[in-house]
Amino acid sequence: MARKEIGIGIAGIGTVGAAVARLLMSNRERLAESAGASLAVRAVSGRDQSLPRSFDTSLVRWFDDPVALANAPGVDMVVELIGGAEGVAHDTVRAALNAKKPVVTANKALIAAHGLELAALAEQSNVSLAFEAAVAGGVPIIKTLREGLVGNHPRRVVGILNGTCNYILTRMESDGLSFGECLAAAQALGYAEADPGFDIDGHDSAHKLAILASLAFGTRIAPEAVYVEGIRSITSADIKAAADLGYRIKLLGVARRTDSGIEQRVHPTMVPAKAAIAQVDGVLNAVSIDGDLVRTLLLVGPGAGGEATASAVLADIVDVARGIITPPFGRPAKLMRPYEQAEMRAHEGGYYVRLAVNDRPGAFAAIATRMAEARISLESIVQRGRAGREGAPIDEPQPVILITYETTEAAIRQALEAIERDGHIVGPPQMIRIEKL
Ligand code: HSE
Repeated sequence: MARKEIGIGIAGIGTVGAAVARLLMSNRERLAESAGASLAVRAVSGRDQSLPRSFDTSLVRWFDDPVALANAPGVDMVVELIGGAEGVAHDTVRAALNAKKPVVTANKALIAAHGLELAALAEQSNVSLAFEAAVAGGVPIIKTLREGLVGNHPRRVVGILNGTCNYILTRMESDGLSFGECLAAAQALGYAEADPGFDIDGHDSAHKLAILASLAFGTRIAPEAVYVEGIRSITSADIKAAADLGYRIKLLGVARRTDSGIEQRVHPTMVPAKAAIAQVDGVLNAVSIDGDLVRTLLLVGPGAGGEATASAVLADIVDVARGIITPPFGRPAKLMRPYEQAEMRAHEGGYYVRLAVNDRPGAFAAIATRMAEARISLESIVQRGRAGREGAPIDEPQPVILITYETTEAAIRQALEAIERDGHIVGPPQMIRIEKL
């Protein structure tokens, strides 16, 4: 019996788009068996038709305009790999859904900004909107949260969600390289976004975290509510101190249900070196979910790169071809609950603090007093410098590292502001949150 053929249009033919096109063509028979339909790449769109590609572009129709591709007859499913929350990517996805064509996308910025509106449109058109590749590349975390864990009531989702940052932090630690050298290497390997600021300043992780939080808690996506700090301020001194204290530094995204609302935060984090997520190195991503039934589940895998991301796109394409229509966020868009934000000032946890302290009598005492005034109890205080560097001038600021017991964000900020005002330290304090795992 002849198989049904589904025409696929790929909008955006960069690293991931080209990998998807090539794999659809080279694995056509195997994918057809799984999908129950033949998956034919019929059209692609990109910025420059003349660039060399890893698949034969003469076999498909070329569009300069992705919206025209979405509307073209013969294109039954649209794969959006252009990127960006606004503009042409948004227009293309809307055009496809309005034309009652299912959409597969890897666009985290678009889903974070417009996911609910697009989910409602997909539901109205009774077609799929699938975005497995938007979070953690090849790790099937969307399906895991939306389907595999549907019987759970998750309390916390913790993720290493940006391969570029994880790669940089790993190489700074393992090879003693500078931040700039590691970033250049990540770019050369094709992990970083076109503007690497999205990676290293935490915004890429924030988009992904907002999507995961929405799936985990059934709440509206709230990317604007994510507290974001990137990794630019992390120095070799922090990485070394973390190792000495039994921690590793990771850029984590954490979404947590608390009594006062949902906390979403992305920041460099001290992770106990023995924790499973601390072992996740290089470009790998990881997502750990605390569910009431499964307890803790950890998924680890490649979070960036053409083929790894294409793996997730292909999974969505096959699901769509099978005729499976799942509400994009696991429940109808109108049943998504409002997002109640927990104040960042109320965040509770331990803190690592590194200060460059002027080596004068009373400096330590003043710092300890400010901590005490903020009702912060100290687990350890380590002064580095003098002992190991004989002859260092007495005026040179000495690195002092403090680890606090559990306190609040409001308290640590109050203490650090007072310490800065007192004038015993040089430069701003470095503060890194500790996450219990
Ligand atoms: N730039 C991203 C990362 C790739 O480094 O993880 C996919 O989002």
